[in-house]
Amino acid sequence: MTSPVTDFSELNRNRIEEKTMTTNTAHIEDVSYFDGDKAEAFEEKFVGALNAGALCLMASIGHRTGLFDVLDGMAPATSAGIAEASGLNERYVREWLGSMVTSGVIEIDPVAKTYVLPAEHASMLTRAATPNNIAVFAQYIPLLGSVEDDIVECFKNGGGVPYDRFHRFHDVMAEDSGQSVLPALREYILPLIPGIMQRLEDGISVMDLGCGRGRALNMMAGWYPNSTFVGFDLSEDAIAYARADAERAGHRNISFEVRNLQSFDTDAPEAMFDFVTTFDAIHDQPNPRGMLKGIRRAMKEDGVYLAQDINASSHHHGDMDHPIGPLLYTISCMHCMTVSLAQDGEGLGAMWGREQAAEIMDEAGFGHVEVHELSHDIQNAYYVCRA
Ligand SMILES: C[S@@+](CC[C@H](N)C(=O)[O-])C[C@H]1O[C@@H](n2cnc3c(N)ncnc32)[C@H](O)[C@@H]1O
Repeated sequence: MTSPVTDFSELNRNRIEEKTMTTNTAHIEDVSYFDGDKAEAFEEKFVGALNAGALCLMASIGHRTGLFDVLDGMAPATSAGIAEASGLNERYVREWLGSMVTSGVIEIDPVAKTYVLPAEHASMLTRAATPNNIAVFAQYIPLLGSVEDDIVECFKNGGGVPYDRFHRFHDVMAEDSGQSVLPALREYILPLIPGIMQRLEDGISVMDLGCGRGRALNMMAGWYPNSTFVGFDLSEDAIAYARADAERAGHRNISFEVRNLQSFDTDAPEAMFDFVTTFDAIHDQPNPRGMLKGIRRAMKEDGVYLAQDINASSHHHGDMDHPIGPLLYTISCMHCMTVSLAQDGEGLGAMWGREQAAEIMDEAGFGHVEVHELSHDIQNAYYVCRA
């Protein structure tokens, strides 16, 4: 865990970096110059991208069919043996193995025609490897691909692709936050707010907005029976799922409501909550500024708001070294930004970045904002906001 970047002093550094970059761009102005080595390096990079994209499709299938889990710790086996153990069709399993072997994920004994998933690779690809299961994130590639036609239409005519076109969104999102939020909630995330765990033990009132399937909130409701919890989300399916989970767990201190947060700036209750959370749920709102104003209004004077949201710069050039920049801009364009635009929203996008977050949080009336990064989570920043 790094120390918090308080009062957005980092912004000045970014402004200085921006100035430096504008003085170093002469080389991109001579557009007729052709560098053969540069072309060759780019070709290699792009062919790698074709293979990586294809691997993500197959990794997603390996996750969804349970093939990676079956192979975890399994002795070298033929395609028929693997198909039998997984209850899947051998011809498909064999072709999938071809993709995995040529990608270097699975190893083959060419004489015995047997396959093995090395333990080092299994440690990042199986359900047992949670929270380090990267195959979970591979699912975003086919999920986004499923709306490509709609997105191409939007490029031509504007507008957005609504949530209901993304058939598996809440499945994948719940698995994503199941890795980035749930396992770290008590050990790393809540401790970012000194004293909050004690207050939760004693009994406070908590609200989570854009709660999706409500897994984080249900988890806290189980840990802190003296506190009361409410979760809001637009999705009826996600809320039904969250309620069913709460019922199964026997929680009496939690409720979930289907609610459109578009006009939360005006219809939020006044000074009701001690603790408000949003997990990855600001940037794809239709009215993120209004939602933040509503949160400020709904918070008690000594309340605290914790926002987990994508960690990025607000500038393309500021994300050149982002470890998953291309992935996040793609998810933004083909999901986060477009679902907001589909609700006639602002279309802030996942890569709205720390600088814009500073402005919008300030505009909403949060006078004190700390930004934290946590080492388990390369995707998100954690904002701790107070009046
Ligand atoms: C990226 S997901 C995050 C879900 C959840 N917090 C998690 O971490 O798993 C964003 C959530 O915002 C919800 N959302 C989008 N637009 C909304 C709106 N207008 N009102 C309420 N919720 C909305 C979506 O249904 C979705 O569940």
